[in-house]
Order: sequence, then structure tokens, then C-alpha cells
Amino acid sequence: MAVAWECAAAGLRLLALLSLLSLELAAGARWSGEGTSPQLRSIFLGRCAEYITLLSPQDRNCTAIWEAFKVVLDKDPCSVLPSDYDLFINLSRHSIPRDKSLFWENNHLLVTSYSENARRFMPLCDVLYGRLGDFLSWCRQENASEMCLSTLFIGLDYQSCPTSEDCENNAVDSYWKRASMQYSRDSSGVIYVMLNGSESKGAYPIKGFFADFEIPYLQKDKVTQIEIWVMHDIEGPNVESCGEGSVKILEERLKAMGFQYRCVNDHHPVKLLMCVDHSAHPDCAMSS
Ligand SMILES: *[C@@H]1O[C@H](CO)[C@@H](O)[C@H](O)[C@H]1NC(C)=O
Ligand SMILES: *[C@@H]1O[C@H](CO)[C@@H](O)[C@H](O)[C@H]1NC(C)=O
Ligand SMILES: *[C@@H]1O[C@H](CO)[C@@H](O)[C@H](O)[C@H]1NC(C)=O
Ligand SMILES: *[C@@H]1O[C@H](CO)[C@@H](O)[C@H](O)[C@H]1NC(C)=O
Repeated sequence: MAVAWECAAAGLRLLALLSLLSLELAAGARWSGEGTSPQLRSIFLGRCAEYITLLSPQDRNCTAIWEAFKVVLDKDPCSVLPSDYDLFINLSRHSIPRDKSLFWENNHLLVTSYSENARRFMPLCDVLYGRLGDFLSWCRQENASEMCLSTLFIGLDYQSCPTSEDCENNAVDSYWKRASMQYSRDSSGVIYVMLNGSESKGAYPIKGFFADFEIPYLQKDKVTQIEIWVMHDIEGPNVESCGEGSVKILEERLKAMGFQYRCVNDHHPVKLLMCVDHSAHPDCAMSS
């Protein structure tokens, strides 16, 4: 009880301080990323409850998962390491069905609709620990006092959060690094990878989550084949295809690592889904 009162008092003092600082805060965001998502805790707990009720047969304690996650909200926004999420991952982790892993770069929304909420595939954002943070942002204010902050939700930075441009060890990137490593380690059978062949910087980012935090953690003895799908936007441009540019670099890397792989341009089922929004386009005509 005494602790709660001290927290409340510290909170009031901080609120007063914040209102004094509000002019300064309004002057410009500190970091280049989006600020902490409003309602972070409610969204997190709601997603968790929905996931374990509808999708995951195992018993999971969402309160314990939230408490393990929120320790990073007490840390300096540029001092959060992937290992700070170890306990969070430990409590939320579950198995990934064989042949259902879907890795991707630069086509988040297409992957989300194609996976059909884990019914068709299970990309990281359809695994419990990936779903909880999907599309959200979170970070503590820089130099905020250590006490009581995450409990009261007033030490969080709702204006902006650091990205990799600001500092490497930011809360959101470290989360995705840790989650990506786990997802790779737990993937088995045929591994699918959806790339964007219309991305001007290349379909396969040579530095990125897939290249740096997923490929190195795939388990050779559990993976039977890697199948790459290079998808092009219906109206183009066609920047890279299988065997070209950065896709070729990826293929050579996988070959050197000893993986069986196959590369497919415009994998037909995904193309059909893309055509939903371009049904009059000649590339979307149904042959009969
Ligand atoms: C869930 O975790 C919380 C926090 O660790 C704990 O207080 C609670 O007793 C747990 N609930 C169950 C049903 O285990
Ligand atoms: C996670 O769980 C494993 C056992 O499943 C245990 O060995 C490990 O110490 C746990 N890690 C943390 C951070 O609790
Ligand atoms: C592919 O990348 C281009 C260029 O960045 C982007 O405009 C397009 O929306 C992306 N396609 C998908 C399916 O996300
Ligand atoms: C936080 O503290 C560091 C080191 O004392 C200082 O360089 C930085 O400007 C401070 N940031 C803010 C927003 O006060």
C-alpha cells in the first residue's frame, strides 16, 4: 500500500513536470519512430486473451506474459536488448506447425491477408509472441525516473520512439529480433519466404530481419526445403525476379549453407489474392 501511495505521489509530481515541459515536447519529436501506442496494455491483453481462446490449445497466463513484457518499459529507450524479452518469449512461446512457416520482407499486409489468421500459414505475426506487438510501438521516455513508471503509464513516450536510425538497442527492434530468432528456431519442414519483386531497393534486403535474425537461426536438421516466392505488384514495376540481383544473392547464400531451395515468380495463389483489388487488369484475367 505504502508503495502504491509513493507511486501515486511520484506520478503527480511527474505530471506537473510534464505539463511544464509540454511546450518543449510539442516543439518536435525526439525520435524518428512512432510513439507508444495509446492503449498498449489493453490491446496487448485483449490480443493475448483472444489468441489463447481461439487459436492456441495450450494454457497461457496473459497477465504473466504482460508482466514479463513490460520490464522493457522501465528501461532507457536505447538500452533494450533482445535478451530482455527472454522471459516474455519463454512464457508465450508455442509450437509452429510443420510446413506452415512463412517469412517475408516488404509486404506485411499481403502476408497478413494471405495467412488468414494462421488458418492457411503461420507467419510470425500469427504466432502469439509476434501477434502481441504487431503494428504497435512502445518505449519509455529518455531519462525518466526509474520508479513506478510502467505501473502508472506516465513514463512512456507517446510522442515518438527510437528506430534503428536513432539507436540499435531500441525496444521495438529488439523485440522483433528476439521474436524472429525464436520463430526461425521453431520452424520446420518446408519454409516459405515471400519477397517483394517491386521493391526498388531489392527484393531481399541484405541487412534486415530475415537476413540477420532469421536465416542464421534456421535448424538445418528440421528444414527440408526453402521455397522463395517473388511477388510483383499487379501494375509493376518488375524490379527483380528469381535468379536476379538480391534474389540471386539470397539463393547463393542458401545454397552455400546447404539448404535445398526453389524460387518461384508470382506464386499463383498469392497472385490471385492480389488480383482481388485489380480484377479488371489483363494480368488478372481468368483463362477458361
Ligand atoms: C497469472 O500470473 C499472475 C502474475 O504472475 C499471477 O498473479 C496469477 O496467479 C497467475 N494466474 C494463474 C491462473 O496462474
Ligand atoms: C526458459 O525456459 C527454459 C526451459 O523451458 C529454461 O531452461 C530457461 O531458463 C528459461 N528462461 C528464462 C529466461 O526464464
Ligand atoms: C512492394 O513494394 C512496393 C515498393 O515499395 C510497394 O509500393 C508495394 O506496396 C509492395 N507490395 C506489397 C504487396 O506490399
Ligand atoms: C538524457 O541524458 C543524457 C545524458 O545525461 C543527455 O545527453 C540527454 O540530452 C538527455 N535527454 C533528454 C531528453 O533530456
